[in-house]
Amino acid sequence: MRRKIIAGNWKMNGDADLVRRIAEHAADAISGAELVVCPPYTLLPTAASHLPTGVGLGAQDVSEYPAGAYTGEVSAAMLLEAGCRYVIVGHSERRTLYGEDNARVAAKYAAARGAGLTPILCVGETLAERDAQRTESVVGEQIDAVLEAVGATAFSDAVIAYEPVWAIGTGRTAAPEQAQQVHAFIRARVAERDPEGAAVLPILYGGSVKPENAAELFAQEDIDGGLIGGASLDSEGFLAIHRAAVGG
Ligand code: PGA
Repeated sequence: MRRKIIAGNWKMNGDADLVRRIAEHAADAISGAELVVCPPYTLLPTAASHLPTGVGLGAQDVSEYPAGAYTGEVSAAMLLEAGCRYVIVGHSERRTLYGEDNARVAAKYAAARGAGLTPILCVGETLAERDAQRTESVVGEQIDAVLEAVGATAFSDAVIAYEPVWAIGTGRTAAPEQAQQVHAFIRARVAERDPEGAAVLPILYGGSVKPENAAELFAQEDIDGGLIGGASLDSEGFLAIHRAAVGG
């Protein structure tokens, strides 16, 4: 059976109080589905010391370089030292606002994996790409770039998050069947190179997941949990989404 994961992407939000609130609630939620929290860099040490063991800690980005003159960047080894087990790579906000292309995302992915972090690779199409029937070619290229950089088993012990760009922060969620179709495509694409890895690869859905729509998304065959943005900032809502994954 594939493991289920509910990961919270706080983006540039949150404070030490939110870490404490999540930590209080998280104590009840460490079975059934893995809970992962990805706060901003500055909150990682606070989160590492407050979150119960069993809750995964992740960062939202990582440098592709191991060390050196890269002002403002944080390396994979630094994230490990700060207590991270996971790191989000290639979030659509990084791709669009900070110009990260597939090659740079693949280099970051390789750096994270090389250091022993579990990457959460974000993939997804824009509305224009979906309307032009390009969803599979766009998502396929995003995955292939990582396979080319890292090799056929790039997704063993990793996580992929399918996040249609048009559903992120818009309140507009993909229909469960629509998301399932892309999740199945992603798994098949990875399986062409690594059938065993693909069978156990957790593929999360992200984009306006809320307590109200989580269960029907997680009931889909190839949806193994969620990457939650806005709704992860409310500790009770976030934990309600976790319960939906455990039940679904
Ligand atoms: P959202 O964000 O849940 O606020 O749509 C998801 C994400 O960007 O990871």
